[in-house]
Amino acid sequence: MKRILFVCLGNICRSPAADGIMQHIVRQRGLGGDLVIDSAGTYAGHTGELPDARMRRAASRRGYDLTHRARQIREEDFAGFDMIVVMDDMNYENVHRLAPSREDARKIFRMREFFRRHPGWSYVPDPYYEGAEGFELVLDMLEDGCEGILEYLGN
Ligand code: 4NP
Repeated sequence: MKRILFVCLGNICRSPAADGIMQHIVRQRGLGGDLVIDSAGTYAGHTGELPDARMRRAASRRGYDLTHRARQIREEDFAGFDMIVVMDDMNYENVHRLAPSREDARKIFRMREFFRRHPGWSYVPDPYYEGAEGFELVLDMLEDGCEGILEYLGN
């Protein structure tokens, strides 16, 4: 059993999409008992909201139903999860600062570590202020990264 928490800034674009994609793959492959998936943001300003409508639309076209309600990451998440996967360096800094111990900090990974088809990308870009292409690119990267995580975990 592995528990994975995806983290971005607002928890309304990138991390809930990663969450929904991973849940979808897990269901498709019958890995439901092996993985627990959730997402959170470092910023609390969107708490309780559904993912951004543009992201929900783009995800829905690929068969992903995004129903997560935004929440802020908290210190206790380090006890609740085995891997905390962040989208960019700013998320990394903020999550790292929250880690109760050095051992807990080793649970933090960057999504880019799991890319196989996006060489040259060192982060998942924030699509919030971008046009529609931004959302497609982010979904491509998250599908790539989620596959990479499952490979890393031996699934
Ligand atoms: P996310 O995108 O971190 O991928 O959820 C953002 C959503 C909202 C804001 C920033 C990024 N915001 O500043 O409100």
